[in-house]
Amino acid sequence: MNAIFKRKSIRSFKSKWVSERLIKKILMAGMAAPSSWNSKPWVFIVIRDKKILDEIAEKHGYANMCRESNCAILVCGNPENMKEKDFLPQDCSAATENMLIEATYLGLGSVWVGLFPKEDRMNLLKQLVSLPENIIPFSLVVLGYPAEKKKWKKSYYGDKVYLDKWGNKPKI
Ligand SMILES: Cc1cc2nc3c(=O)[nH]c(=O)nc-3n(C[C@H](O)[C@H](O)[C@H](O)COP(=O)(O)O)c2cc1C
Repeated sequence: MNAIFKRKSIRSFKSKWVSERLIKKILMAGMAAPSSWNSKPWVFIVIRDKKILDEIAEKHGYANMCRESNCAILVCGNPENMKEKDFLPQDCSAATENMLIEATYLGLGSVWVGLFPKEDRMNLLKQLVSLPENIIPFSLVVLGYPAEKKKWKKSYYGDKVYLDKWGNKPKI
């Protein structure tokens, strides 16, 4: 559970190579996420090409950290075999979060770089990794050995919790 609380967005990385062994563990964590109708609509593209990572840093607008990374995983959604296609964002979000937590557990830094539903950012990734037209580039998990330390603490926001009805304060 500590990995959930320790997870912070890390945007500065050392040059140390992230191994395929760790990447596989992170992918497995993504694939263990809950999925509507168990449709598992995600497809993952592991990006290791420095030219692509640099171009994301240059053009995305909020992904400068890609310049320092040697691995980012593009989480895509394939709506084709989904029973309820509008659940695709939730399925891809759950996979993305699992991957961030696993990366933290493994001692890696990570950050969720948003793509969906921003057309310009989605188009950028679509073009850079040659996605087929029906595949949705959802999020980018940028990985690396952390070159910054972030403080973390367990927080509880009592004002965001009600009991049974809106406005009822629980005794927790
Ligand atoms: C949907 C979504 C999109 C995000 N997009 C970006 C992004 O494009 N670039 C970035 O540096 N961080 C991005 N983040 C990370 C948030 O900025 C970060 O989670 C938030 O500031 C809280 O900080 P923490 O992750 O360290 O707890 C995104 C997070 C989410 C959930």
